[in-house]
Amino acid sequence: MSTSKRHLARQWWVFPLAAATVIFLVTALPRYVGLDPSQSLVPTDRGPVFYPALVTHIFFGSVMLCCGVLQLWPWLRANHPKVHRWTGRTYVVTAIPTGVGALVTSQFPAAGPSQQVGNTFLAALFLLFTVKGYRAARQRRFKDHREWMYRSYAMAFSIVANRFWSTLLIVLYVPEIMTGADIGTENPALAGAAAASSWVSWVVNLLIAEWIIHRKPHRRTESELGQASASRRVERQTPVSSSSGISTLPPS
Ligand code: HEM
Repeated sequence: MSTSKRHLARQWWVFPLAAATVIFLVTALPRYVGLDPSQSLVPTDRGPVFYPALVTHIFFGSVMLCCGVLQLWPWLRANHPKVHRWTGRTYVVTAIPTGVGALVTSQFPAAGPSQQVGNTFLAALFLLFTVKGYRAARQRRFKDHREWMYRSYAMAFSIVANRFWSTLLIVLYVPEIMTGADIGTENPALAGAAAASSWVSWVVNLLIAEWIIHRKPHRRTESELGQASASRRVERQTPVSSSSGISTLPPS
């Protein structure tokens, strides 16, 4: 297998990530594009601020999620640094209204204080990680930049993971839902499952991000090592050496 094919094969994880993002957006967005609160998956009778904040959050979040997956793709970073810069800027610009909208909607929880605290922490940490990542890039600390952005994206992707966790927890704690029984939205077990999923969705993602950041670099084959040292001789100024074995080009 040629080296470029081997590199692409090692980036296999981008494709399920992109597929999950597309499936999420295609299934979630149609309910909100018509700006009709009655179509919302979640109840919207939570005061006049809730629905405008929710749709702002969702529209900016959709753009951000697409940019996020492109940012993570090593091939795009290495071969199209301009695209990486622009999708990176769009990610940061859209992250702010997404996070602020999330902070607002979090204060009107349908499933009680545990969900409120879980979502508030998610929104606050997401904003913090994104700002730290942006500042690190501006200060040309590219290793720090990449690490903070991994964390930021882990938080953003929690909405996609939430589809899995909430389904699993509802089936576990409210099994009668499988038989089509009318359990009502006030059901305490349902609220408990929703609250639990609002925590597990981001905590697990953050743990995975920390593992990726701190794991040892993979062992390279001899031919890759030879190639790497040759390209180091050519490119005297490789800006980032990555703990995940991925080198990145600096944003401007
Ligand atoms: C980055 C951190 C995020 C936080 C803290 C967050 C927080 C929230 C909160 C609090 C709600 C209201 C849930 C309720 O009380 O019923 C919500 C709903 C929603 N969010 Fe986010 N969210 C985040 C990221 C995203 C992203 C990136 C998207 C991408 C489109 C997104 C899409 C949605 C959608 C579609 C809903 C409506 C409910 C649903 O269909 O599941 N969120 N979010």
